[in-house]
Amino acid sequence: MISRTTVDAVFDAARVEEVIGDFVQLKKSGSNYKGLSPFTEERSPSFMVSPVKQIWKDFSSGKGGNAVTFIMEHEHFTFPEAIKWLAKKYGIEVEETQQTDEQKQEQDAKESMFLVSKFAAEWFQSQLKTEEGKAIGYSYFKERGFSDETIEYFQLGYNPDQWSAFTDAAIKAGYQLEFLDKTGVSIVKEEKKFDRFKGRVMFPIRSLSGRVLGFGGRILTNEKKAAKYLNSPQSEIYDKSKVLYGIFEAKQSIAKEDLCYLVEGYTDVIQLHQAGVKNVVSSSGTALTSQQIRLIQRLTKNITVLYDGDAAGMRAAIRGTDLILEAGMNVRVCTFPDGEDPDSYAKSHTQSEIIEFLTDNAQDFISFKSNLLKEEAAGDPIKKAGMIRDIVSSISKIPDDISREIYVRESAAILDIGEDVLFSTLAQMRNAGFQEQKKKEIREKAKEPMSKVENAVASVKVDRRALLERSIIAILLLYGGKDEIFEEEYIQDGSGEDVDYITKKEEHRVYEKIYMDLQADEIKFTNPDFQNIYAKIIDVLLLEQKLDVQLILSAFEGEYANVIADITMSDDKYQLHDWERNQIFPKLKDQTVSEYTSQVLLHLRQYLIYDLVENINRIIAKNNPEVDNAEALKQVMDYNLLRTKIDNKNRTVVPSDGLSRFLFNS
Ligand code: CTP
Ligand code: MN
Repeated sequence: MISRTTVDAVFDAARVEEVIGDFVQLKKSGSNYKGLSPFTEERSPSFMVSPVKQIWKDFSSGKGGNAVTFIMEHEHFTFPEAIKWLAKKYGIEVEETQQTDEQKQEQDAKESMFLVSKFAAEWFQSQLKTEEGKAIGYSYFKERGFSDETIEYFQLGYNPDQWSAFTDAAIKAGYQLEFLDKTGVSIVKEEKKFDRFKGRVMFPIRSLSGRVLGFGGRILTNEKKAAKYLNSPQSEIYDKSKVLYGIFEAKQSIAKEDLCYLVEGYTDVIQLHQAGVKNVVSSSGTALTSQQIRLIQRLTKNITVLYDGDAAGMRAAIRGTDLILEAGMNVRVCTFPDGEDPDSYAKSHTQSEIIEFLTDNAQDFISFKSNLLKEEAAGDPIKKAGMIRDIVSSISKIPDDISREIYVRESAAILDIGEDVLFSTLAQMRNAGFQEQKKKEIREKAKEPMSKVENAVASVKVDRRALLERSIIAILLLYGGKDEIFEEEYIQDGSGEDVDYITKKEEHRVYEKIYMDLQADEIKFTNPDFQNIYAKIIDVLLLEQKLDVQLILSAFEGEYANVIADITMSDDKYQLHDWERNQIFPKLKDQTVSEYTSQVLLHLRQYLIYDLVENINRIIAKNNPEVDNAEALKQVMDYNLLRTKIDNKNRTVVPSDGLSRFLFNS
């Protein structure tokens, strides 16, 4: 177990905008930050980070929480793993309380696989210093022009040309064969076990956060039969469609330059990086997948694809780019002179020459494709028709209306065809595509059961009582510890029908007011999440006499983080969807916290009275001989009196079309 002190230190140190900033490109937006959701494939940002509240909320996936839960969600960590990760980031020493043997054994398979991969990367690296490694691996890298710094930075390594040098070393170091096998660094066949990457130089492939996920290993001989590159097999931690070589090393530069260069191979990435062009990644020889695009999209909207100047390179440049267009990104293409690739070009040119070349030669993808097709279809009408469909098909993938229109005009000019032909083809394709998309969405919706969060949100929307309960939680979370002046009412004479009230101003902590009122009426929350959160908030407040959302979240160890973030960010949600007009949100604009609090409590009582009266009326209607209907009627009258009183009070401030609109402006 990690000690409470460590957990608290991490909560104190971790700034949510810093932590998330490592994974998502955030832009300042008012007092918050916005970015693209790292959990869905969205095009317009609905991922919010509040530095003031130290909370994030992803309105496209419904997820939300604080710095710790972000790491849990994003890296699929458990709570202790997330705390450890953050402790490392902020240089906090992790204090562990006694761990039982059982807990030690419970380390899950995935974690073991990460550990094996980390060990393997370090071991391969160390092999560059052995006699064999120096003569073969290290000298190979040197020959390619990699500096010592580069070799170190990309954690390049070498797997000796022996059957099981690595596997033996790993077992000796205490790693289990099971996980060596699962990660694929070793191959286990019955009694035999050997190194998968025997005699190869090693390129570790790292996640966005820098964990080693797998390897590419390059052969050093010219054996025609063996593959030039061997990659880690698909596993629980390595999925080739989800990784991008160099993303960890490039992420900061991509965000800073607001541009990502995409190349074919490992060595292209490394060589460009060494030349000073650091915003570069590789999909490792395969066509780009939508998951890989998402990874880039978190950092920038601009991709420039770099390809060899030969025909094969051109073809490759065209393949896979539609997916990037579809993601709403700006795609440019830069081809190299015949016989050159980014690796060779970077090796023989200076940084400024490379950047100049890239800037001068990067062409917008649509005009690149139009030009290429035009050449191919010259003088062949059948080919020309196909070409129009091909180019329009690419344009139809672009989500933005204005961009599509600009591209149609541009292509029409390049291809020397009337714009109207292209526009009508586009309209047909968009329509067909749209229908297809709709069908797909319906199919997927039907497949998925509603998530717990969706359910909660849905029920919150319909249930007026839940709305009120939610408001109380929101008030507690945001203003619970504040001192406020409340107008308290007391019954003047306390007897008879004609109750009279007097009002006194009193100072209370907001939470005290809520606590006392709810106690007085013995009101409990119907939503169990709210009940738990309420209980914890009151505990923390009674104990600490102060409250902030972080304190509550840390008390819950990550539980309920989503619900809590959802509640405290609901006004931001509103801002998000109506950014320009965010001033119209009425909550607290003209009201003090105490007025708002009193009103929510009053509404809750009003609701409960309605509920009670309804119940009694139902009983009376049944005409049960065991029930004293006269007594019941008197109760109804009493309640109605109270109700009129409350109604009158509320009417002065609540708009006629309902409470929910007033509270949430939804
Ligand atoms: N690749 C692969 N398996 C192969 C060949 C290629 O995974 N058998 C991937 C590698 O990621 C490689 C990329 O495709 O980096 C591009 O292939 P290629 O152009 O052949 O390799 P280069 O990167 O140019 O490698 P080198 O310069 O070392 O020959
Ligand atoms: Mn090459």
